[in-house]
Amino acid sequence: MKSKDVRQSFIQFFEDRGHKFVRSSPVVPMDDPTLLFTNAGMNQFKSIFVGEQEPRYRRVVNSQKCIRVSGKHNDLEEVGVDTFHHTFFEMLGNWSFADYYKAEAIRWAWELFTEVWGLDKNRLWATVYRDDDEAFELWGKVTDIAPERILRFGAKDNFWEMGDTGPCGPCSEIHYYVGEDIRQQSASGVNQSDLYWELWNLVFIQFDRDRTGRLNELPGKHVDTGAGLERIVTVLQGQTSNYDTDLFQPIIRRVEEITGVSYRENPIPHRVITDHIRMLSFSIADGALPSNEGRGYVLRRILRRAARFGRILGKHEPFIYELVDTVGEIMGAVYPELIDKQTHIRKVIKAEEISFNDTLDRGINHFERILRTLSGNVIPGKEAFRLYDTYGFPLDLTQLMAREKGLTVDDATFREEMEKQRARAKAAGKFKSAAGTVDWKIASEGPDSEFKGYETLETDSRIRRWALSGEGMLIVLDQTPFYAESGGQIGDTGIITGNGMDLRVVDTKKEGETIIHYCEGDFDERKVDQVVHCTVDAERRQAIRLNHTATHLLHAALREVLGDHVHQAGSLVSPEYLRFDLTHFEKITPEEIERIERIVNTEILKNIPLDIAYRSFDEARAEGAEALFGEKYGDEVRVVTIGDFSKELCGGIHVERTGDIGLFKIVEESSLAAGVRRIVAVTGKQTVAYIQKQTRLLSELQQQLKCSVDELPQRLEHLVNQRKELEKALKRRSSSSKQDMKSLAAQGRKIGGHTVVVKEMDVSTLDELKSLGDELLEALPSGVGVLGMQGEKKPAIVVVVTRDLIKSGVKAGDLAKTIGAQMEGGGGGKPHLATAGGKDPSKLKKALESSIDLITEAISKIK
Ligand code: ALA
Repeated sequence: MKSKDVRQSFIQFFEDRGHKFVRSSPVVPMDDPTLLFTNAGMNQFKSIFVGEQEPRYRRVVNSQKCIRVSGKHNDLEEVGVDTFHHTFFEMLGNWSFADYYKAEAIRWAWELFTEVWGLDKNRLWATVYRDDDEAFELWGKVTDIAPERILRFGAKDNFWEMGDTGPCGPCSEIHYYVGEDIRQQSASGVNQSDLYWELWNLVFIQFDRDRTGRLNELPGKHVDTGAGLERIVTVLQGQTSNYDTDLFQPIIRRVEEITGVSYRENPIPHRVITDHIRMLSFSIADGALPSNEGRGYVLRRILRRAARFGRILGKHEPFIYELVDTVGEIMGAVYPELIDKQTHIRKVIKAEEISFNDTLDRGINHFERILRTLSGNVIPGKEAFRLYDTYGFPLDLTQLMAREKGLTVDDATFREEMEKQRARAKAAGKFKSAAGTVDWKIASEGPDSEFKGYETLETDSRIRRWALSGEGMLIVLDQTPFYAESGGQIGDTGIITGNGMDLRVVDTKKEGETIIHYCEGDFDERKVDQVVHCTVDAERRQAIRLNHTATHLLHAALREVLGDHVHQAGSLVSPEYLRFDLTHFEKITPEEIERIERIVNTEILKNIPLDIAYRSFDEARAEGAEALFGEKYGDEVRVVTIGDFSKELCGGIHVERTGDIGLFKIVEESSLAAGVRRIVAVTGKQTVAYIQKQTRLLSELQQQLKCSVDELPQRLEHLVNQRKELEKALKRRSSSSKQDMKSLAAQGRKIGGHTVVVKEMDVSTLDELKSLGDELLEALPSGVGVLGMQGEKKPAIVVVVTRDLIKSGVKAGDLAKTIGAQMEGGGGGKPHLATAGGKDPSKLKKALESSIDLITEAISKIK
């Protein structure tokens, strides 16, 4: 049976029994802050279990993408070492929301396993929670399992919990013996030996564990089951390793092809890489990105582990990204996001591989250095930290490498080092004192922080709490029109006035559900118990609204133009501009920018009224609302809809109609990080100001260059080319004049063993003449040179004398003075170079001729 048939027959089995098929939720949960990754099929139904939400269907079936690498359920260490634990796996599940209960759950599981799939009853074991007599008896009653195969276990094995908090209850599991000889089985192997695989877990959800750890009875009793697709496929395909099934084999073969190392030769690295690429592909497809914290850091850790196992197979170049297509081939039909986002996934992984590649080898070397000097079998925490900090080795990678050598890592010291670093970073940062640490004083009792700002810019409010903070103060009100920074939209500013109160609100922020006003100005603490008047700076707020709605339009336009791999990776909505970070690899071309601008401005021109409504999270998602990565959404969400162009979950403040935005213009596009681009754009009055500034610049240029705007590029191009030509000509000329002076020196007449050059040059300035003189001096072995020029009105000469002659008493200055006098002028300068000017150009020739006699005479005087 192929894996896709196993998946399908599970779904069919439960559909035939009145269950509704529900798609897998994303592996990156948007709506549950207690979870980094979806770790069980029931996650998306959590709010139904705890009674916060009414179920739409009482019976549900699905196959859920799950990741277990963090939190309560973490299988990372087993991955690759054994053949049946994974970071990513698919969980087949059926659910009853206060409908059927234990009897049906048990009966159907047994029926599917033994009758539909024909699993050998002599290999199956059932476990129940120690105190769950009901389940224990039901196994005997509703199935034909042998009584000695029903076992009781304690909470560790048979009480299932989603996380530290949340829905939970006793469970009953079905285990399968994978050993060769069924006579070797015994009850003592269950939950002990790797030969007994847990295939299916039937959880009877009856409690909700709260933050204090207490179990609260739920109003309804539910069924939540989870069966590992990979293991069932293995068993049905007669294998004992998940990696030998059609879910993994094509990836393993690709790894073999790329590395040239066969799987049988070195299975663990193949398995780890094969496992990790599935986890990476699915999480990136659902919007996660490698980064330095939280969910992103889990991705980074997994990728770095995979890269390091690649080294063991001799792969030093990036290669993991090449496996993405194979994952798509295996599962793209069921999970189309793998195909839609394929290019994006490949690029993200490749970039991350490249960035780690350099330090990986150096880190491995450092690790080996540590081993050489290590005494004992514990790697010091400081060294593990160094590997982390300098070489980018996640702690678990170091631990894994240590384990391979039979060593451990002092992780307590590692964590201390991490903490110190965090403290240093915090001390260096400009982080303002958190509102949570100030000394709050109560002004009045009652509920606080009711937000009125969607409807009004002014309220009469009571102060609930206040605290001094630095130069200013923090204030919490019963109700407020001030929007607190969230969802990228910055906090409102404005004023709060009253008897003895004249406060400027310089910022508004949220802590949990509390809205805190950061204020400056006059505050009379004896009069806190009064009604104060709050007014938001309306003009600023209006500018923010335009930018917020424009952000939604931009987001939709980006997806239209660049593709739906584009997700919002960050956003800032301020009165001056909007900033939008998006997942995209290439530079956005000028043509694409123009298209995006045209699309956004077309939606503005349509003047579409915005529709803002509250819905349940699932309803909103079903309508296709874009939930933003990293945002937390409560059960009831606010959906902002702009015609049929954009639909997003958003708590921010928007315009009434798109026409209010006026005009939208992108002013900057840049790269923020690998795979993330940044766009800055303006709207409304800011766009007008921007365009005016650009126009002003253009007209200044136009005046300078004396041409029309349309001719500017051509004109500039011409000027630039001209300048290049001139520079070339100058270079040519200086090298040719050097040449000229060399040949002049070579041809000069010899007087008393010295060279004498006298020549009229065709130049027009004294500077040019002097630089020729310099070059002549350089070219002369020993001698004197006199260069002259007619000049425009006045003649001039330059005289140069080589060092040896200067020592013998021949000085350029003296010569220049005499020659100058012959042109009815004067002269002088340094011993090696001097100039002289005259009044009458017609005298130049004569003066030059006579200078030969003068020089001959000077040389003859040398002793
Ligand atoms: N939620 C149960 C599990 O994950 C079925 O095992």
